[in-house]
Amino acid sequence: MSRMMDFKALPKIELHAHLSGSISRQCLHDVWVKKHQAGETTLEDPLIQMPLGKHDYDLETFFPLFSSYIYHLVNDPWSLRYTTLSVLADFVADGVVYLELRTTPRALPTHEEYVQAILDAIAEFEAQVPPPKLRTKLILSIDRRNPPATAFSVLSLCRKFYGHGVVGLDLCGDPASPTSLLHSFTPIFSAARSSLPNLGITLHFAEASCSGTDQELDLLLSWRPDRIGHVIHLSDKIRQRIKDCDKKIGLELCLSCNVHANMITGGFEGHHFGEWWKVPETIVTLGTDDVGVFGSPLSNEYALVAKHFGLTQQEICDLARKGIDIIFGGDEEKERLRKIMWT
Ligand code: IMP
Ligand code: ZN
Repeated sequence: MSRMMDFKALPKIELHAHLSGSISRQCLHDVWVKKHQAGETTLEDPLIQMPLGKHDYDLETFFPLFSSYIYHLVNDPWSLRYTTLSVLADFVADGVVYLELRTTPRALPTHEEYVQAILDAIAEFEAQVPPPKLRTKLILSIDRRNPPATAFSVLSLCRKFYGHGVVGLDLCGDPASPTSLLHSFTPIFSAARSSLPNLGITLHFAEASCSGTDQELDLLLSWRPDRIGHVIHLSDKIRQRIKDCDKKIGLELCLSCNVHANMITGGFEGHHFGEWWKVPETIVTLGTDDVGVFGSPLSNEYALVAKHFGLTQQEICDLARKGIDIIFGGDEEKERLRKIMWT
C-alpha cells in the first residue's frame, strides 16, 4: 500500500513555491538573531511573531506577513543569500530533485541585483561537492497589486536573465486586488509570449471567490498560460475552457495551503485534487506554495493525497513523473528527470 511508501525518498518535482514563503521559521530566527545582536532590527523574534506550529494563516493575515514582517527581516544581500541557501537545503533534504522557485523582485538594492543574488546562491548551492541532486530554476512573479510599470520591469528582468536561470513569469499576489487592474497586464503577457516564446507562463488562478469570476478567468486564459495555480473557484464554463486548451495545461495544486488558509471547504478529502488528478486533458502537479508558512513539505503533500484519495504506489510515481512534461527548464532537464524519477 502507498501508505508504506517513503515519500521523502521519492524523487519529486516542485513547481509552485514562493521563495520568501518557503523560508523556515528557524532560518528566519537565525537571521533575526544576527541582526538583533548587531542592533540592525527592532522586529520581534520570528519564533514569537510566527510561533512554531501556527499554520492557520488565511488570505487576510497571510499577505501582510510579507509586507509588514518577512520583507523587513530579509532586506539585504546577506539575508537574501542566507535564506535562499537555507530554502534550497530544505527542499533537497525533502527529496526534491527539481525546483522552480518563484519570487517577486525587490529593490535589494536593485531589482536586478536581487535576481542576480538569488541566481548566484543557486549556483553556489549546485557547486557543492558532491553535487546535490536538486536542480533549481527561477520564475519571476508579477504581483497583481503592483502598477503596470513595475510589472513591465519584471518582464525586462525575464528578458535579461532568460537563458541564465530564469525560466518563467508568474502572476501572484492578493486575489482581493481587483480584476480591473489586471487588464493593464495584458500587453506584458502578450509581449512575453511574442518576444520570449520559450519562457513559461504560470498564473495564480481562481484562488478566492472574488478572483474566480468568469470575467477574470477568461482574461487570464487569454494570456495563454502553460500552467495555472490553485484553480479553486471556477464555473463549469471555465472548467471546460481549461480542458479544451490546445496544449495540456498544468495545474499546480497546493493542498495544505488551501486547507490551512480555509480557501476550500471539506478538508483534504474535499480538495479539488480529487476532481482533477485523473482528467486526461490536464496535468496535475503538487506544490507547497509557502512551506515556511503552512508547514507541509512536498513529501507530506504526496502522503496526503495517498491517504485521502487512496493513490497506489504506482499512481504516486506516475503523478510525480507527469510533472516532467510541464517543467519550464528545458529538454535536457526533462531527460535527467526521466532517468532519476521512480517508475
Ligand atoms: P516572494 O515573491 O519570494 O517575496 O514570496 C512572497 C510573495 O509571494 C507574497 O508577497 C505574495 O505576493 C506571493 N504569494 C505567496 N503565496 C501566494 C499565494 O498563495 N497566492 C498569491 N500570492 C502568493
Ligand atoms: Zn502561490
